[in-house]
Amino acid sequence: MKRIAVLVSGGGTNLQALIDAQKSGLIKNGKITCVISSNNDAYALERARINRIPSKVIPRAEYDSLSLYTSVVTNELIEENIDLVVYAGFMTILDDQIVKAFPNKMINVHPSLIPSFCGKGYYGLHVHEEVLKKGVKLTGATVHFVTEKCDEGPIIMQKAVEVKDDDTPEILQKRVLEEAEWIILPKVVSLFCDDKILIIGNKAYITD
Ligand code: GAR
Repeated sequence: MKRIAVLVSGGGTNLQALIDAQKSGLIKNGKITCVISSNNDAYALERARINRIPSKVIPRAEYDSLSLYTSVVTNELIEENIDLVVYAGFMTILDDQIVKAFPNKMINVHPSLIPSFCGKGYYGLHVHEEVLKKGVKLTGATVHFVTEKCDEGPIIMQKAVEVKDDDTPEILQKRVLEEAEWIILPKVVSLFCDDKILIIGNKAYITD
């Protein structure tokens, strides 16, 4: 059974999708054993509490440097014997230390079809604002491995979502969550826990 840590900063609806997938049996070979939040007020913490999942707040604001913050988060994950780290709306970029400690063992859900609307500065609602500004007709979500370069790790799964003429960023964000993120993130976690994801070079493949 793989031990899964979920990193959060906000509402935690992706965390909820993972909890639901664990309960329904979609995720068979993994268990969420800890939730780490960068923010004391994250509603994700309440979701962890309701579901009796141990959680810890490691507030970004309390650490002077990114290096120190990353080492504290990394050490916590090592102590928890974590096999898979899931960034689920975690709004703090961590440095290379964590990638070296968990190579090919960290995944992130991003609310666009990478390589569009990603990289530094593209997070949360801001992504959907930029999608609407550009006028693209399709957006979606991507689950990818986390590497040293922000949003550039091997792509594991993507799902497209239609953009409608009268969308607001909030309405589009909700549709992308419902129609893409909450579906592909649990699927990828399940595949990872079943050892069904292979990385060759900079590409990820799903094996049977
Ligand atoms: C999600 O849309 C997630 O893809 C995004 O933040 C939201 C968190 O929602 N993450 C990023 O933008 C990271 N670059 P949630 O807290 O309800 O899961």
